[in-house]
Amino acid sequence: MTQLQNPTPLAAPDQANKSLAPLPKGGNSAADQVKVTAVTHWTDKLFSFQTNRPPSFRFQSGEFAMIGLADNDGKAITRAYSIASPHWDDHLEFYSIIVPDGPLTSRLRHIQIGDDIILRPKTTGTLNLARLRDGKRLYLLATGTGFAPFASLIRDPETYERFDEVILVHGCRTIAELGYSQKIVADSRAHPLIGEMVTAQLHYVPSVTRENFTQTGRITTLLADGKLASSLSLPPLDADFDRIMICGSIGLNQDIAAQLLAKNFQEGNLSSPGDYVIERAFVGDGI
Ligand code: FAD
Ligand code: A2P
Repeated sequence: MTQLQNPTPLAAPDQANKSLAPLPKGGNSAADQVKVTAVTHWTDKLFSFQTNRPPSFRFQSGEFAMIGLADNDGKAITRAYSIASPHWDDHLEFYSIIVPDGPLTSRLRHIQIGDDIILRPKTTGTLNLARLRDGKRLYLLATGTGFAPFASLIRDPETYERFDEVILVHGCRTIAELGYSQKIVADSRAHPLIGEMVTAQLHYVPSVTRENFTQTGRITTLLADGKLASSLSLPPLDADFDRIMICGSIGLNQDIAAQLLAKNFQEGNLSSPGDYVIERAFVGDGI
């Protein structure tokens, strides 16, 4: 990983010397701006960053907000971002892809400590514990940056109060793409507030599809052939006891939902909590 306190070798040459445009005047109140306090690049396509947290900014673990930067004309470019930090933390954290020509991330990739970012105050999302019925086990299934909302939920004590066991599966193409989730899980296990719960109740299953690794295969396959549950000595998925949250590409989300529907799992919402909830990690086919 590369801390941005030092010049990053990962910035594209064409963008590396462009300074970020100032935030738009007029359209953003001070309450819409936060300052970057840390940046870590995990691969040439993935980075995480932290900002200060405005005292009035409230959210529930697993939700997303609109964040952004100004373009060269001073117009705000904002996108949905899951908040990766838990609701109790005094800073905010985000985990980001870099889309080479993406309107936001081709700029966001260059942020440094001290830069201002737009943060809209409204938060929302479906990956919410309140949308799930009580159960024994909570499965959190993510690919790529879909891990971000779960980085929040696995650090929320309520997750461990509601469920005896929490099974976090993070699927990526390569081992390097697991760097962020590996660090968050390791830090959470050692954390003075939540470490005991995380160590006792969280199973972390990183899986890679395009390299050799201790665990390989798509999440859909690990679920369908029962290997996921059996490798953890857990019973097969059962709608009476298991609750599921899914966050990945549209293809992954649809494929898992189809498996769950075939096992009589019901999708949950706020008025009628259910057995599983789904959120897109992004819109489109992915990069
Ligand atoms: P865009 O014009 O927004 O995207 C261009 C294309 O890049 C998309 O059509 C898609 O094909 C691909 N793409 C975009 N985002 C991703 C991604 N995350 N993974 C793989 N391919 C992608 N992105 C994050 O990096 N972290 C998050 O926590 C996050 N949370 C989101 C939560 C929700 C509910 C939604 C709907 C999207 C979320 N996104 C997240 C995606 C994010 O909103 C932007 O699309 C992304 O930051 C790229 O912005 P852009 O302007 O550079 O490119
Ligand atoms: P694979 O390498 O077999 O395509 P991406 O970076 O394309 O979003 O993929 C992230 C991870 O999600 C990869 O391991 C990829 O596996 C996996 N994946 C992509 N689509 C699906 C799907 N429909 N079902 C299950 N896993 C998927």
